[in-house]
Amino acid sequence: MDHRNEDGAPAGAGPSASERCSVVLRVNGVERQLDVAPWTTLLDALREHLDLTGTKKGCDHGQCGSCTVLVDGRRINSCLTLVVMKDGAEVTTIEGLAGPDELHPMQQAFLDRDAYQCGYCTPGQICSALGMIAEGRARSADEIREQMSGNICRCGAYVNILSAVEQAMGEMAGEARR
Ligand code: FES
Ligand code: FES
Repeated sequence: MDHRNEDGAPAGAGPSASERCSVVLRVNGVERQLDVAPWTTLLDALREHLDLTGTKKGCDHGQCGSCTVLVDGRRINSCLTLVVMKDGAEVTTIEGLAGPDELHPMQQAFLDRDAYQCGYCTPGQICSALGMIAEGRARSADEIREQMSGNICRCGAYVNILSAVEQAMGEMAGEARR
């Protein structure tokens, strides 16, 4: 049997205290200090060390997009990113999007448009959509489909996801003009 420790390394081969790394992240507006093995991914740091399990682990190989979070405003696959590489970064996860009294417009749009089934891909879809909007390269349905193509939905909710993203884009553009 392959025994592994909490960071995914073979049991008994864990780093000594002197080999562990201290990392500081600002996560959803709050500074968090971590003491991690050097090979810890940002995804595992969020889920296993900070208890932020909204970000999902699908493939763990950069192929499904379910682990998408925003780092310094840009969307990334957190399973492909070592947390030590992001020391000092600003990280936004699905838990950081809602306001005190209401959901983020993108979250609300996913509800309004019935844009999920099992919901496993949804946090990554929402973070990816927000990163895409910030990139400013998606101005049509085809462009949204293309720019969101790294986010796989195994339930096939794509039609409603597109509809939700279009709704939220419209609302966010309207708010920005006010
Ligand atoms: S879990 Fe990261 S891309 Fe699939
Ligand atoms: S809603 Fe189930 S994977 Fe997308």
